[in-house]
Amino acid sequence: MYRTHNCGELRISHVGQEVKLSGWVQIGRDFGGLTFVDLRDRYGITQLVFNMDDDAALCEKARKLGREFVISASGKVRERSSKNPNRPTGDVEIMVSDLQILNASKTPPFTIEDTSDGGDDLRMKYRYLDIRRAPVQQNLMFRSQVAIETRKHLSGEGFIEIETPNLIKSTPEGARDFVVPSRMNPGQFYALPQSPQTFKQILMVAGMDKYFQIVKCFRDEDLRADRQPEFTQIDCEMAFVTREDILNTFEGLTKHLFKSVLGLEMADFPRMSYDEAMTRYGSDKPDIRFGMEFCELNSVAQGHGFSVFDSAELVVGICAEGQAESFSNKDIKELTEWMQRPQIGAKGLVWIKYNADPTGEFGRFRSSVSKFYSEDQLQAFADKMGAKPGDMMLVLSGEAEKTRKQLNELRLEMGRRMGLMKAGDFKPLWVVNFPLLEWDEDSQRFFAMHHPFTAPLPEDAEKMMSGDHETLKNLRANAYDLVLNGVEIGGGSIRIHDRALQEKNFQLLGFTPEQAENQFGFLLGAFEFGAPPHGGIAFGLDRLCAVMRGQTSIRDFIAFPKNNMGRDMMIDAPDALDEAQLTELNLKVVAKSQITG
Ligand code: AMO
Repeated sequence: MYRTHNCGELRISHVGQEVKLSGWVQIGRDFGGLTFVDLRDRYGITQLVFNMDDDAALCEKARKLGREFVISASGKVRERSSKNPNRPTGDVEIMVSDLQILNASKTPPFTIEDTSDGGDDLRMKYRYLDIRRAPVQQNLMFRSQVAIETRKHLSGEGFIEIETPNLIKSTPEGARDFVVPSRMNPGQFYALPQSPQTFKQILMVAGMDKYFQIVKCFRDEDLRADRQPEFTQIDCEMAFVTREDILNTFEGLTKHLFKSVLGLEMADFPRMSYDEAMTRYGSDKPDIRFGMEFCELNSVAQGHGFSVFDSAELVVGICAEGQAESFSNKDIKELTEWMQRPQIGAKGLVWIKYNADPTGEFGRFRSSVSKFYSEDQLQAFADKMGAKPGDMMLVLSGEAEKTRKQLNELRLEMGRRMGLMKAGDFKPLWVVNFPLLEWDEDSQRFFAMHHPFTAPLPEDAEKMMSGDHETLKNLRANAYDLVLNGVEIGGGSIRIHDRALQEKNFQLLGFTPEQAENQFGFLLGAFEFGAPPHGGIAFGLDRLCAVMRGQTSIRDFIAFPKNNMGRDMMIDAPDALDEAQLTELNLKVVAKSQITG
């Protein structure tokens, strides 16, 4: 009734056929005798033509069509005299003989084209219009493909998709919970899951062996481009496995997704320990599409009277290949100010340019520390860093951990400026052997680096039961992250499956035995009824899609995302409640009627 073809389907081979299309008016162009209308649906755009000489009334009707009117048009396909090579349907047009207006539209508040003039909040408010744009549709279709291929692959590997509840009790995973009041249990609250962690472990105790779920998770945390308060995980768990089994299984899934969705073959993923990643890149999620690795310079930098370096725990630098000439003094000043912003907090930035022509008027080196170092001493920096004529060395110093983090930011910024993060280049990396516990000086307590159910490396289990404070700080977790182009797209671990070890971990994390029993009695109890060794991983589906498409914002892969304040602009949530509803829920907070008067 509405269409014989869609708007992306017609080709030169259809010329002469009578067809009917339905869709939205992208734009109309009136040339007096002829009126052209671009008709759009999710499959593409087809040009409609109305001829005054053939049917004046029909042409008048077409002239009155506004943007986003929903119409049906019937007519004959003909070859276009001026073709549009940028459109798959660009060789043909439809000479319209009948036009029905199915629905009118107000003028949209922003242009519905590949690049839109609408700001973020406006586009989110009218998300149904935003989703009509091809780039957004393509992202959503891409996501659907990734989800479908995930299901195909994992079920082919014997995994079973099992749903776990959304109304649960809080699971400490590091973020705050969203809570839901229980009407039937006055004063009590459910929490929305930050992840199905404990349920998937219980499923292993229950003998389900290989579980997965594409599942919404909820975390009340500060939002960024790669974080949403509700996001989706590909959540997985396996029983009777070692870390090796898990890494191989999920490297397999990742390779399958790249092959089936992007047509790319991936080589085996390299692995790196957390310590090595921090030493070489200052980050536990290094972007290894480019080198520019850290070089520790204490041995060449210290003892020459430059007090900033002499007093530093760590002097560390990177070598930006071929950049001696491309960075002017002004550029370096700007870069230094960028590093000194509170978000990064570097005190300063030392630069040493190895001149492209070492015999020229500036000599071998130009540098911000020439006062303190002779040419030969600067040569020692260059030798240590493997710098060649034409390169620029950038050096930071200070407290080791902080300085590494700052240099990580600088390395990434240089990578961006030098165009080293190439789109379409995918460099995965497993980061393994994270610390198990992190000591927090302020609260004088340990936190779990991954989550409280993560097992230590087998060789560290004994130390965990009896070690002193220093030993505990150095325990390694049997945990792993999958990093892709500098983004953490997945993380997991082998779990503790022994009640005594789990109790010990809760104790180290500051739980009293009563608190542990109250919150996790069900899990500790399950461990007493034959819990198999098990482990798993969860991928961030939104992040995975964004990285695979070379984009940075996960919002563009979520149909109805929240803004930076956690608001849904379309439905205007969150919102206050009516008094009656609050009373029913036993909540004594300000009711909507009191706010709005
Ligand atoms: P984790 O907390 O590391 O592990 O989460 C797994 C992956 O989920 C993604 N992710 C997010 N994506 C978007 N917005 C967020 N707010 C957000 N938070 C996390 C990341 C991350 O790598 N239960 C464990 C997994 C396990 O041990 O099996 C867990 O949730 O890509």
